[in-house]
Amino acid sequence: MSTTTPAVSPVVDAAHAAPFTGAEEYHAAIAEIRAAAASYYAGEDLAMDDATYDALLARVAATEVAEPGWTVAGSPTEVVAAGAVAGGDVEHSTPMLSLANVFDADELHAWAARLERVLGRPARGYTVEPKIDGMAIAARYVDGRLVQVATRGDGRAGEDVTGQAAAVAGLPGELARAVTVEVRGEVFMTDADFTRANELRTAHGGQPFANPRNAAAGTLRAQDRAYVAPLSFLAYGVHDLPGGEGLFHSAAMAAVAELGVATTAGSPTGMPLCSTVDELLAAIAALGAARGTLGFDIDGAVIKADDPADRDAAGSSSRAPRWAIAHKFPADTRTGKLLGIEVQVGRTGVITPVAVLEPVQVGGVVVTSATLHNFDDLVRRDVRVGDTVFVRRAGEVIPEITGAKLDVRPDGAEPFTPPEVCPRCGGDIDRSQKRWRCVQGRACGAVESLAYFTARDSMDIEGLGDKVIRALVAAGHVTDPADLYDLDVETLEQLDRLGRTSATKLVTAIDASRTQPLSRVLTGLGVRMTGRSMSRRLARHFASMQDLRAATVEQLQEVEAVGPERAATIHAELADLGPVIDKLIARGVTTTEPGVTPYAERVAAAAAAAASDDGAGAAAAGPRLPLQNEDGTPMTVVVTGSVPGLTRNEGNEAVEHLGGKSSGSVSKRTALVVVGDGAGTKAAKAEELGLTIMPADRFAALLTAHTNGDHPTLADFLP
Ligand code: IVH
Repeated sequence: MSTTTPAVSPVVDAAHAAPFTGAEEYHAAIAEIRAAAASYYAGEDLAMDDATYDALLARVAATEVAEPGWTVAGSPTEVVAAGAVAGGDVEHSTPMLSLANVFDADELHAWAARLERVLGRPARGYTVEPKIDGMAIAARYVDGRLVQVATRGDGRAGEDVTGQAAAVAGLPGELARAVTVEVRGEVFMTDADFTRANELRTAHGGQPFANPRNAAAGTLRAQDRAYVAPLSFLAYGVHDLPGGEGLFHSAAMAAVAELGVATTAGSPTGMPLCSTVDELLAAIAALGAARGTLGFDIDGAVIKADDPADRDAAGSSSRAPRWAIAHKFPADTRTGKLLGIEVQVGRTGVITPVAVLEPVQVGGVVVTSATLHNFDDLVRRDVRVGDTVFVRRAGEVIPEITGAKLDVRPDGAEPFTPPEVCPRCGGDIDRSQKRWRCVQGRACGAVESLAYFTARDSMDIEGLGDKVIRALVAAGHVTDPADLYDLDVETLEQLDRLGRTSATKLVTAIDASRTQPLSRVLTGLGVRMTGRSMSRRLARHFASMQDLRAATVEQLQEVEAVGPERAATIHAELADLGPVIDKLIARGVTTTEPGVTPYAERVAAAAAAAASDDGAGAAAAGPRLPLQNEDGTPMTVVVTGSVPGLTRNEGNEAVEHLGGKSSGSVSKRTALVVVGDGAGTKAAKAEELGLTIMPADRFAALLTAHTNGDHPTLADFLP
């Protein structure tokens, strides 16, 4: 799972953006950026989504590089450009180091023994603090006033985030005393603030942050961002504390707290002092037990030598101090309310109980459903609807319920009764193994999944309706979509009421569907947590079934609107569908998305461009498509009314095929509105806003020209 990439890219990347060619366009863009920021600060709806905002700012910055004479005073790029220097331009007073990790008691014993060897005696006490999962910063106070806040950056220098840090809870603008001091600690987002921030972002048309860590990093580094996302701070270190010479860490942090700064010692778990490894292990266990109740993410405990003399004697490597260590926690466990237990039947007929939960954050992800594994397990653990249950999420895997808090069970909670028959087909259940299975196996649910596969928005196989599918499944000819491609006229002819002509037509239609693009194959396979538009996004991103199947959960999250939970589900689903996908490939079904450069090639081009830093990667991504902006980003296009020869879904598909991004609503951000017969208020609104409008027949002609390989441009087809 990606926890390091911010969900938004707040750093202006002028090197890869296309400059405006006219001063007028440049000024208009600045006006737009200012208007977007102003409307936000006025608390109005977001006038621009993050990506558009960043892209526009990048183009303004690129223009200022190309045409320095045009640069206006107070350009919105000014502050941003200062923070965009690699590694940041605020040099740290002393390097901001990282921490080495241990994962269990043995490793902790080994670390303490090594420290003892270096010191020639046991350390004079240790502190235990929560390891907060956020972003490290250094805050400088001069005469009690907060003057500069910098991110860790590369450890030697970081980005200046003073402006954004002004409103961080726990990091006061003014200290209780007029001292000059540097405080270091972690900026993070609490669970409650994370939920609120994502509500705000999505309400304003933005993408939700993947987790609180990304949210904190994205918010802290963003400039002029058009939403309020509250951040918090806990200090874990102090430098140059007046009179602090020789103070133990615990005492120094108490002094910092007295100045009015929030510290890890002041967090609910405090800062226990320990003298032996056994005491440390007990304190770490206590912190681990409290983990789910803190209201913010922690990913471990940090153990530090308390005595500064021990720290000096132990010293540091270039990366991490030898006097401190992070003890990472295993999988995150939280508690949540069990609202219901659903019984799901998988593609292969496996029957599993699935927990429906009140939304709960586990491992930084909002979880609403979790596996209960199997019925034996469920009955043995006696988990009941209404219980407060333990929800665990380890890394990228699907969350699981590990048990119920029996002491808070509500009155009247009924034990769960496992199903007597398969809930999908009503057939018998094979209970001989832990994983119960419908005796029908893959045939259970085959009708449903085949109907989905052949539907108009999927593989669009005409003549293959529910009745024929039922007959085929009943006769045992077909159990999965790939079996359709083995059907011949003779077999089909034998079905009730299907003559030779219809059978021949059907075989031709099935045969023709082999050339449907990857996006439709994916839609047809019915990957859980994806629909038509997500299937198209996946297909356009990965370009081939091979690259999609090879994608890691982290890579899947590169796709717009794919967060950790969805990515994990898609990953598991693709693995589950593996045998069917292999069968489809063997039968010659298309596994690529036409007009998209292979993912591996794009990744290689991007890496090469990043290495040479000359922007060559943009060109390597292939020729510009008609609905792509100059910088290769997709234009936002709204199709309203009917496009000749296309369904609504096909109209949206066509937009994406032409390099655009289809949207359902018209706004100032819409680049193009395609207007066909039956268009209503959207067309009127487009006119009112003065947007570019294209009649649907011209759009259809553009699509044809593109499909024919004529390399048309949008301008060629505009009225
Ligand atoms: S002490 C020289 N204490 O963890 C010691 N770090 O994985 C520097 N972190 O970069 C760090 N909570 O951002 C320390 N209680 C804590 C911490 C903490 C979180 C972060 C910090 C650091 C990272 C290392």
